[in-house]
Amino acid sequence: MTIRYDGKVAIVTGAGQGLGRSHAIELAKRGAKVVINDLGGSVDGTGASSEAAQAVVAEIEAAGGEAIANGANVAKYEEVEAMVKQAMDTWGRVDILVNNAGILRDKSFSKGTLDDFKLVVDVHLMGTVNCTKACWEIMKEQEYGRIVVTTSSSGLYGNFGQTNYGAAKMGVIGMMNTLVQEGAKYNIKVNALAPTAGTRMTEGLIAEKAFDLLTPETVTPAVLYLVAEEAPTRTILCAGAGAYSVSKIVETDGMWLSPDEQTPEGIAAHWDQISSPEGEKVLNAGFEQSIKMTTKAATGLGIKLD
Ligand code: NAI
Repeated sequence: MTIRYDGKVAIVTGAGQGLGRSHAIELAKRGAKVVINDLGGSVDGTGASSEAAQAVVAEIEAAGGEAIANGANVAKYEEVEAMVKQAMDTWGRVDILVNNAGILRDKSFSKGTLDDFKLVVDVHLMGTVNCTKACWEIMKEQEYGRIVVTTSSSGLYGNFGQTNYGAAKMGVIGMMNTLVQEGAKYNIKVNALAPTAGTRMTEGLIAEKAFDLLTPETVTPAVLYLVAEEAPTRTILCAGAGAYSVSKIVETDGMWLSPDEQTPEGIAAHWDQISSPEGEKVLNAGFEQSIKMTTKAATGLGIKLD
């Protein structure tokens, strides 16, 4: 079965080049009407130009698709609101939001400035918040929405020189975890993409042969899967060079310690069991942790909770 997006309106941020451009072109090829958002600045977020977004619109139109260009800075809520209004005025709905826009200000934590840190958080995390906020009520009313946040292995696992970027990229995962719960009854699904791709962002950082394998086009099927009607929700899908995997946050089963062992020394003495991967699980909501802890305590103390 071919997955298509006919009748669907998509906004792809940072779609003037790199991964966003590839996502937007493939969505349009499969029937979606697409807002090509791009501020058109440099990798570090300086400057602006509408050329890149317009070139992608021209490319989509030449192939028979529908697209409009938008130059909003995702870090500015008024500009994002105007972008969503442009989509609504043109096509009357917004079904898909791919939060992709991003910049880098790499420096070790010692050398980086707080201004750089705030800017990176502003573009990646607040940019995702702004775009999602501006689309959320529309999606709720439509009882349909597919949202992708773009995370990174840097946030999930860490990368030297990227505390700002890693913090922002993990922030969008925290946002997703709660949005999936608030959006579920409105058929809004929220997922995360953790890409690895050869773009201007990674040029010079990856060996040439690997760079050639890591085309944006090998990542795009993952985004299209995550915004399909039959999409999963709350998935962190990793993609690069045509390989796909899923990242999960797990919690160990742990153990309850008797009151006299509820000390740092007690934790040290039982560290092997507390941190043992045996029985570790993905929890579906924060309260599941409280239930697990209190159930263990009740068992240990021999009391009934209800
Ligand atoms: P890119 O630099 O080729 O494209 C990013 C686009 O976002 C640019 O066209 C830029 O003009 C636009 N942009 C930047 N700030 C903006 C703003 N404030 N408002 C609107 N547009 C803005 O980078 P690439 O590699 O395509 O990255 C896309 C996303 O994937 C980013 O979120 C990035 O952090 C993420 N990512 C990329 C990885 C890679 O290996 N290339 C690895 C992990 C995550």
